[in-house]
Amino acid sequence: MFDTMTMVKAFGWLCGALLIYLLINWAGESLYAMDAGNHGEEGEEHVQGYAIEVASAEGGEAAEEESGPSFEEVFASADAAAGEKVFGKCKACHKLDGTDGTGPHLDGVVNRDIGGVGGFSYSSAMAEHGGTWTPEELSAFLANPKGYISGTKMSFAGLKKIEDRANVIAYLQAQ
Ligand code: HEC
Repeated sequence: MFDTMTMVKAFGWLCGALLIYLLINWAGESLYAMDAGNHGEEGEEHVQGYAIEVASAEGGEAAEEESGPSFEEVFASADAAAGEKVFGKCKACHKLDGTDGTGPHLDGVVNRDIGGVGGFSYSSAMAEHGGTWTPEELSAFLANPKGYISGTKMSFAGLKKIEDRANVIAYLQAQ
């Protein structure tokens, strides 16, 4: 009888030990799960790293543009037909038939006075800028409109590619 009780107790202890072991194991696993969670965050960091990579790639592109051919060189071999396609991005606001829309008409804009369309209500930034829309001036403006004439009401992000700018200016020059 006594022996049986001892064995029952021993079995009880064994069960208890097993339970504690399982609990520790479970706690360890949930710790591991938290660890995995942290890895997830690291994954997000990797995403950030990727964004930085993109930024540096853009930087590389800008650097390429700086060291690449000048606007004059690109403009010399510009393709007006390709520029007509680029002009698709301007069509919502600019017409080429001498009438103004959201923006002033752009036929004859090359070598026209900046802000020079009578009757169009320019922003004061554009109206007071002065100067002439030479191809170079247009390229600088179109690369980053708000950066070039701060306060312009032309809501357009800009044409980042020098070829796009050269081509669309060649197209405009032909209008
Ligand atoms: C969302 C409308 C919009 C789009 C898209 C847009 N523009 Fe404009 N643009 C304007 C407005 C508005 C003005 C007048 C800006 C001011 O008065 O500050 C303007 C002004 C200009 C001017 C100055 C004209 C002048 O008479 O001095 C040029 C050049 C020009 N845009 C070229 C372009 C080209 C090229 C594109 C396409 C690559 C383009 N714009 C896309 C709205 C737009």
